[in-house]
Amino acid sequence: MSQSIYPPNPEFSANAHVASMEAYQAMWDRARDNPERFWGELAETELFWFEKWKHVFEWNPPFVKWFAGGKTNVSYNCIDRHLATHRKNKVAILWEGEPGDQRMISYQELHRLVSRFASVLQSRGYRAGDRAILYMPMIPELPIAMLACARLGITHSVVFGGFSAEALKARIQDLDAQIVITSDGGWRRGKEVRLKDAVDEALTDCPSVRDVIVFQRTGSGISMQPGRDHWWHELDAGASEHCPAVPLDSEHPLYILYTSGTTGKPKGILHTTGGYLLQAAITMKWVFDLKEEDTYWCTADIGWVTGHSYIVYGPLSAGATTVMYEGAPDTPAFDRLWRIVEKYRVNIFYTSPTAIRALLRQGDHWPNGHDLSSLRLLGSVGEPINPAAWEWYHRVIGKGRCPIVDTWWQTETGAILIAPMPGAVPLKPGSGTLPVPGILPDVVDFNGNPMEDGKEGFLIIRRPWPSMLRTIWGDPDRYREQYWSRIPGVYFTGDAARRDKDGYFWILGRVDDVMNVSGHRLSTMEVESALVRHPAVAEAAVVGKPHEITGQAVCAFVTLKKGDHDHDALAKELRQWVAHEIGAFARPDEIRFTESLPKTRSGKIMRRLLREIVTSHSVSGDVTTLEDMGVITRLAAQQSEEE
Ligand code: WT7
Repeated sequence: MSQSIYPPNPEFSANAHVASMEAYQAMWDRARDNPERFWGELAETELFWFEKWKHVFEWNPPFVKWFAGGKTNVSYNCIDRHLATHRKNKVAILWEGEPGDQRMISYQELHRLVSRFASVLQSRGYRAGDRAILYMPMIPELPIAMLACARLGITHSVVFGGFSAEALKARIQDLDAQIVITSDGGWRRGKEVRLKDAVDEALTDCPSVRDVIVFQRTGSGISMQPGRDHWWHELDAGASEHCPAVPLDSEHPLYILYTSGTTGKPKGILHTTGGYLLQAAITMKWVFDLKEEDTYWCTADIGWVTGHSYIVYGPLSAGATTVMYEGAPDTPAFDRLWRIVEKYRVNIFYTSPTAIRALLRQGDHWPNGHDLSSLRLLGSVGEPINPAAWEWYHRVIGKGRCPIVDTWWQTETGAILIAPMPGAVPLKPGSGTLPVPGILPDVVDFNGNPMEDGKEGFLIIRRPWPSMLRTIWGDPDRYREQYWSRIPGVYFTGDAARRDKDGYFWILGRVDDVMNVSGHRLSTMEVESALVRHPAVAEAAVVGKPHEITGQAVCAFVTLKKGDHDHDALAKELRQWVAHEIGAFARPDEIRFTESLPKTRSGKIMRRLLREIVTSHSVSGDVTTLEDMGVITRLAAQQSEEE
């Protein structure tokens, strides 16, 4: 197999934080040989501590503590410590709304806004250990609310604005959250996403919630429940600007973010304070090669982990100018992202393969109509990037000048674990290349034995790292079982991978029943559970099928209860139903009605066979456990009839 290799550009390397392969290798070796010393030194140079820790880490498998006993505060690190430097009046958040409105918030201004909102929370009685749900559009008040929570030790859980009222409710209930922070709505493709309406719907069944604070973004009419609901601006009017950051233990819970697992119930991934922030901050330098003068833009939504670590916590703790955009990349036209790059002279641009593919399809004239010469580094995250998308990103967006950092990580890992250091590591399109220092990944078989180079196996991580998840909220057994028991003693990522002769990692996709739709994780079980809640549905089996833009699309095989059904109308209704139960992004691309589903003798749905049908239109491999082979033949035949 011929493989293009892109060595670092010498000019880029000359100014890079990590300037050569030797420098990278030396760091990586140092971290492997003496992790206490390596991470301990970084924690001292990169973060502010009110009190120093006792031990760098304590590992009682599968539970780890980093810098325990140390006292720090994420909000202080992201804001206050910059105020005594030249960053005081530097733009922290450079925001653009979808309608074209702008805000530039300096570190000093951010301090004022966050302190005021933290005062509001404090005066309403919230304090360390409480849980707040944040259900907001991509407006500055979202990071402001996150940082205000962090300032007081209130553990936040951001729920992506694309999730439905049902999904929101499940998260509020799982957390017993006391407060919800939201807005009337936000703008997406010229339409209002009505968030407060969804909050009202969710709260019919959430007795733990005492207060709802509503930021006014769209000004459209919403209902306010007296006593429970408060306007942000009204509370803010009387707020004190003095609200010092509370010194918190390094292991204090910073946030919980839900992600899909293999069951119908999402997992609340818990991240804590010192270790999480350290790794988010240091990867800004290692992987994004962040410099003081850079304008940095990550296009993710803060509702996902990418936005937590690489729009908010990583960039702000590193003192960066972080760009935030509210709306869709195709509004008002397909050049919106390139327009923003040109307007703000963006230097570092981080997006997903799905966005790249969607924009690539629209033609080169969109990016070519803009001056993109400010760009010096490009990033990719969410799924493996296919060579065609990589080449386009490199040539048309980066003009052949910009390295592309393909960053592999997960909600659970908190920060990037496998990615090139762009001044040091030669790139191979489609590979996340090498692990960052301190990370010991491997590719192994079922028993944990390393695979030979080039052979496919399970991607695992051998040692705990600072930004690792600490547990699944309320379910330590599931945490142990999911991540540390499949292959005993190592962290199980759920991804398949292979390693080439140069030690580069190639991620091949999930090995479990988790789909990746537009870089967002979605479990087949979650969609199935939603479908079977519909009164007409008897059984459902969901698989991901390859999709040109979103990577995978949701394909549902459905059997119906007895009765007369109008299949076309019902398919439409079921797609809408899933959007209502989970969120629009989970809406099945395709619903296929079938008489029965392929099952093993023990009654387990054989999704692998369905996956083969939607992928290759035929069935191969071992089908000896299949009870009713006829079903598969019928399904496959149905498919060819449809084409
Ligand atoms: C899964 C994690 C944290 C990033 C956003 C998604 C896949 C992520 C890559 C990449 C190949 C990737 C993996 C991983 N993935 N980045 N650069 N190359 N695959 O976070 O929802 O927690 O999903 O996304 O399958 O396990 P997530």
